[in-house]
Amino acid sequence: MSIYLPTSLTDCYTLSNGVKIPAIGYGTWQTPNDVTADLVKTAIDLGYRHVDTAWGYANEIGVGDGIRASGVKREDIFVTTKHWVTFRGYQKTVEAVDESLKNLGLDYIDLYLVHWPCVELSNPAWAEINADTWRGFEAMYKAGKLRAIGVSNYEEKQIEALAKTAEIMPMVNQLEFHPGYMQLDNIRYNQKKGILVEAWSPLGSGTVLKDETLAKIAAKYNKSVAQLCIRLSLDYGILPLPKSTNAERITQNAEVFDFEISAEDRAAIEAMPQLGYSGFTPEEAPADKLAGLC
Ligand code: A2P
Repeated sequence: MSIYLPTSLTDCYTLSNGVKIPAIGYGTWQTPNDVTADLVKTAIDLGYRHVDTAWGYANEIGVGDGIRASGVKREDIFVTTKHWVTFRGYQKTVEAVDESLKNLGLDYIDLYLVHWPCVELSNPAWAEINADTWRGFEAMYKAGKLRAIGVSNYEEKQIEALAKTAEIMPMVNQLEFHPGYMQLDNIRYNQKKGILVEAWSPLGSGTVLKDETLAKIAAKYNKSVAQLCIRLSLDYGILPLPKSTNAERITQNAEVFDFEISAEDRAAIEAMPQLGYSGFTPEEAPADKLAGLC
């Protein structure tokens, strides 16, 4: 499979329905709502045109305010938000879309994702629950409230189950991806299906930044470890969603289009032992982490 390599922050991947999505998204997980608007405005001022949030991050209001404060036209910003686990099922999904639109102060969402699948470990009716939620996604997509729809943290098993009833297949799957936790089998499965993979925690939430192997490789390219990690996503055809609360680092995280990681260095990164794994995988997470998922 050929990998599309974007060459700038505003260069776009094309989703399976033809919608264009800018190559790097500004992530907002763990960003408190009261500072989100300023940070989103800063990221947009610095050239980002894609912002990733979620109902579950409790900062959709700040994201909407930041977009308006930037003065950039709505249609020039790509906004992703996610459906939270408490909204499973058709009717609640329809209501969840309206709630996110209201929080964001927008009249459409560019990309709406199922935040977490319901999994067999949590509920024997998992497949029907996911199918019913997805019907709500399809209806809101057809109604024009969502320009693209997808999932997050889905494994092959949940996507295959969804495919049995879906009229429209997910266009995106957002997964944890960083050195030390690359999930390459899952990535390749999605890419073969034409589903764009996005990377959450492309820096392992900061945990991989002091790793010596990565520091040595990054030095070869005269780049920081953060830049190496973000470039790693791009080199695997994965759209990265780095987050930072600091303007210099927000800028640095976009300066990744002037180098490519060699095959030898990619192999060395693939061979690294597990590092920085969040522990959040639906089928593997211990019961306490799954509580409330479905
Ligand atoms: P800060 O907000 O102080 O910049 P991830 O995107 O994987 O979730 O990682 C986010 C973490 O990585 C945050 O703690 C963030 O801290 C840090 N971070 C983001 N960009 C950089 C960078 N270029 N250099 C160092 N740390 C960074």
